[in-house]
Amino acid sequence: MKEPHVLESINFANSFVQHLFFFFLFLILTTADKILLNCGSSGASPFNGVNWVGDIGSSFLPPDYDKSSSTLLVSNTDTIAPKVPFSTARITHSPFTYSFPFSPGLIFIRIYFLSSLYSRMNPSKACFSVKAGNYTLVSNFNPSVSAQDLNLPYFTKDFLITVIQGNLNITITPSPLVSKAFAFVSGIEIFSVPRNIYFRDSNPVPFLGHQDSLFINDEYALEMLYRVSVGEGVTVENAFGTWLDDFKYISSLQYGSVLNINHRPIDLNYTTFTSKDYNYSAPSELYWTARTMGSNGDANMRYNLTWSFPVDSGFKYLVRLHFCEISMEVTLARQRVFKVYINNQTAEEQMDVVALAGAPFTPLYRDYVAMVPMESGRRRKDMWITLHPDLDAKPKYADAILNGIEIIKLSSNNNLSASFQLKKEERRKKLSGVVVVAGTLGAVLGLLIAIFILIRRARKCETTRVLPQVTVTSGHCHRFTLAEIGRATSNFSEALVIGEGGFGKVYKGIMHDGVTPVAIKRSNPKSRQGFKEFQNEINFFSFSHMNLVSLLGYCQEANELVLVYEYMAQGTLCDHLYKKQKQPLPWIQRLKICVGAARGLHYLHTGTRHPVIHRDIKSGNILLDQNLEAKIADFGLSKIVPSVYHTHVSTEVKGTFGYLDPEYYKRRKVSEKSDVYSFGVVLFEVLSGRAAVNAVAVEEESEKVGLAVWAMHCYQCGTIDQLVDPYLELEGKVKSECLMGFVDIGIQCLANRFAERPTVGEVLSNLEKILSLQVSLEEQEINTNQFIPDAETILQ
Ligand SMILES: *[C@@H]1O[C@H](CO)[C@@H](O)[C@H](O)[C@H]1NC(C)=O
Ligand SMILES: *[C@@H]1O[C@H](CO)[C@@H](O)[C@H](O)[C@H]1NC(C)=O
Ligand SMILES: *[C@@H]1O[C@H](CO)[C@@H](O)[C@H](O)[C@H]1NC(C)=O
Ligand SMILES: *[C@@H]1O[C@H](CO)[C@@H](O)[C@H](O)[C@H]1NC(C)=O
Repeated sequence: MKEPHVLESINFANSFVQHLFFFFLFLILTTADKILLNCGSSGASPFNGVNWVGDIGSSFLPPDYDKSSSTLLVSNTDTIAPKVPFSTARITHSPFTYSFPFSPGLIFIRIYFLSSLYSRMNPSKACFSVKAGNYTLVSNFNPSVSAQDLNLPYFTKDFLITVIQGNLNITITPSPLVSKAFAFVSGIEIFSVPRNIYFRDSNPVPFLGHQDSLFINDEYALEMLYRVSVGEGVTVENAFGTWLDDFKYISSLQYGSVLNINHRPIDLNYTTFTSKDYNYSAPSELYWTARTMGSNGDANMRYNLTWSFPVDSGFKYLVRLHFCEISMEVTLARQRVFKVYINNQTAEEQMDVVALAGAPFTPLYRDYVAMVPMESGRRRKDMWITLHPDLDAKPKYADAILNGIEIIKLSSNNNLSASFQLKKEERRKKLSGVVVVAGTLGAVLGLLIAIFILIRRARKCETTRVLPQVTVTSGHCHRFTLAEIGRATSNFSEALVIGEGGFGKVYKGIMHDGVTPVAIKRSNPKSRQGFKEFQNEINFFSFSHMNLVSLLGYCQEANELVLVYEYMAQGTLCDHLYKKQKQPLPWIQRLKICVGAARGLHYLHTGTRHPVIHRDIKSGNILLDQNLEAKIADFGLSKIVPSVYHTHVSTEVKGTFGYLDPEYYKRRKVSEKSDVYSFGVVLFEVLSGRAAVNAVAVEEESEKVGLAVWAMHCYQCGTIDQLVDPYLELEGKVKSECLMGFVDIGIQCLANRFAERPTVGEVLSNLEKILSLQVSLEEQEINTNQFIPDAETILQ
């Protein structure tokens, strides 16, 4: 490919115009007011009156970068997207950084992406992050997924960030979690903007649904998602481009009615509220048009005028609403008073535009922060903006008015992509990189070390061998003699061992009737920790549910502690999923097991007098009986939630690595929602046939990552099919509706915060729906398949 150096392309001798251009470029490089970078091309590419500069050989990349690096420069002229910058792109499998000279201050960054395929590149492998300075602009980003959301083959992403000092570095990093991941970018536009347009360092913004307000400061990177002109007939433009029409965002059945004064432009009175710099904030054209509810007040009272905007769930948004009273009838306060709701939360009880602005034809805007929670598990959710007349203020008109809407996503500097943020190791010594799942895994490692130290300490205390007597707090728990246990297990014969854990060994025994098999758990007599857990199991013995393993009795004699359980013929769920000695389970069986386990957990959380938190939900603690019915075992760590007024219990962190709820180890608070998190991990084990820990080694040399991180990652990148157990693919029975539903509920369980996770009851009812859908789809299939052979038989 021809890659002329930008300087080589300029012929000083011949062209005065090119001299001028070079001078212009020189100015750009030194003062950097505005840069338009056409990635994957070289030299100047003027287009529609705008001067783009190619990145090949430019000073924004390290010198000789293109000669030494493996980035691919592609051109794609077969696109309906504007020729510049979309007909070329830079594609890379390894991280690279553009460095732009910008003085400190607020910077607008627009990144141009073309989603259509680049030759021979697999679109599902497009997964990357873009960082600007210290801010992650996008992570786990796959442009084709965004393009599908937007239904556009090309699009831009617009950001505002603060450069504190020195250069602005924009780093593009293919995801270290996807093997052969690549990143690509078509263009980058950057310019400085006045700081006061959105940032409010001293004046916090009301945070809907919260007591406090929020300071919008350097901590946040702002992504400008929607700039919408409400009303019609006026084109609104400012330095950030053209504002969209509101029509396609109206989601109420009624569209209200349009007010428009552009045929008699009026000097608006900007005395208050609005920034003087119309070029960057709202231009006056925005206020020349508006939408009201209509002239029929009675009808207005019966409906809500609502707009809805799809946004990513799990983030905070700054919503800026622009108002200006432009109707000739409404000139005084208390004439038009209305309520404003954002996401069904009251943003304004009594909005009176004239009263607030002091006069008609006086623009103002109001800012609100709204959180769009993850709770529904969908990656995209709608942000609602709703108007309704307010009659309490006894206004003259039962009506409402709105002129403009801006929606801006807030990404906090230190918690950027809501939850599972992936970071590269600082040293970045190898190109392939070492995956460090920062923060979360770090905390877990710390925790493991702490546990290790505790165990060491516990070992040191081994000298105390006298165990306290177990107490049976409620009801009657059968007490076996050691002689009975000895007979049942042929004196703890090694041949009968069916499992082993930190507590000791589990034996298969036969009760004195000579036929009933039982599982006998013998405490390692050296472990005091074991005693507590045994005592705990006995405390919970009175639970009785078909999806919980029943405790039949216990034995404490001569330093031996033994628990006797019903025998579960098919062993643990994890044996069936990835220990491979067993025949893999078909999909429908897996769904049934999940439903059963969810029922058991639901009983623990809601079916007993006080909710019980299991604290160690994992596939190793879900056992299967001879009919593959799932039962939850091991209440050694379980805890009662003492009163309904406590939604969580403070506690030391226990549980199993790979299943641990991040909120639990961060805040040392455990709730039923911690079990829900662990259950989410189990759901992904069931789907993927992989273990919760070290599930995926992404590339050679890289560390393995846990299943929860991997699942969230595939979900965000839109590569869910990578999660599915190859056996299930062979089986070919997983219906895509069921898969989507299953992944969805699993992802909801893995939400970072308690509040965003569903209850286990909700998980259960979703799983039941998925199971019955799968059953009915399979039945339909059988019916259609059977029809054909039958017909053939008849013909013969
Ligand atoms: C990034 O953050 C570090 C530590 O918070 C700070 O020292 C540094 O100046 C920041 N860099 C930029 C470019 O903002
Ligand atoms: C608002 O409430 C309506 C009706 O109750 C509901 O359908 C809608 O999903 C809610 N919207 C949001 C964003 O919560
Ligand atoms: C309008 O929306 C609000 C907030 O979502 C809701 O409480 C109210 O019932 C709605 N009114 C009508 C008439 O739909
Ligand atoms: C502009 O607004 C101020 C109050 O904010 C008001 O006092 C003044 O009269 C208005 N001017 C015009 C021309 O409407």
